[in-house]
Amino acid sequence: MSSVGASSGRPTITLKLATSLDGRIALANGQSKWITGEAARAAVHRLRASHDAVIVGSETVLADDPELTARTDPMPAKQPLRVVADSRGRVPASAKLFSMLEMGPVAVATLETMDLERWPSTRGLQFWMLPAGVGSSSVSLVEMMNSAQRAGVASMLVEGGGQLAASFVRAGLVDRIEWFRAPVLLGGDGRPCLGALGLQALDAAPGFTRTSVRELGADLWESYARI
Ligand SMILES: NC(=O)c1ccc[n+]([C@@H]2O[C@H](COP(=O)([O-])OP(=O)(O)OC[C@H]3O[C@@H](n4cnc5c(N)ncnc54)[C@H](OP(=O)(O)O)[C@@H]3O)[C@@H](O)[C@H]2O)c1
Repeated sequence: MSSVGASSGRPTITLKLATSLDGRIALANGQSKWITGEAARAAVHRLRASHDAVIVGSETVLADDPELTARTDPMPAKQPLRVVADSRGRVPASAKLFSMLEMGPVAVATLETMDLERWPSTRGLQFWMLPAGVGSSSVSLVEMMNSAQRAGVASMLVEGGGQLAASFVRAGLVDRIEWFRAPVLLGGDGRPCLGALGLQALDAAPGFTRTSVRELGADLWESYARI
């Protein structure tokens, strides 16, 4: 996938959600492996392979320590750029992301005031030094799109968690949603797939049109495009 969705030339953004029926991505204690089944997880690896970059929030790295590589069969010719949104440099140098640089490059999107000494100085690691978003202490996603574009990223898969996903939605950057839904209920104390949007009127809610529904084992895979 290398189409550019927006007239500005920013990368096309796909939001991937892997949730319970009630839209939860983890238990209150953070446990999230695994909500969806093997077929859904394999589809997510193919989605990773078909995007130029994948991104997660710092809390997801702290909770799950993911590799974020695309592990398809056969393996893809090229790994996506793996990006972590880590404004305050909370992800430790020991994170698996940084120990797998031979698999493909990693970008840390962090505040422009951050001290780079805290990260390992290794080939394959790049830094996107960004201002904070308006009214936020985290990096600006709009500025991040410019860095991604400069890095040759035309398509980006947002893999969560809920806070980062909500920021992308609030910024109006989500072009497509790939939603994997497992037939389990995790309840209101589980972690939501989407953080607060702060909506005051229903007609302000971002709308999507469903483009397909597939069965993946016990799970459903729904695809949506922005209206
Ligand atoms: N089921 C699944 O497929 C799945 C997928 C992903 C995650 N999860 C689960 O979700 C949980 C983590 O989700 P979460 O919502 O708590 O955290 P998250 O979205 O992964 O990370 C949130 C952090 O990202 C950083 N960030 C940087 N730029 C941001 C921006 N512009 N907007 C928002 N955040 C930004 C912020 O920290 P700084 O300000 O310090 O940068 C923020 O605290 C974990 O339990 C994980 O297991 C499940």
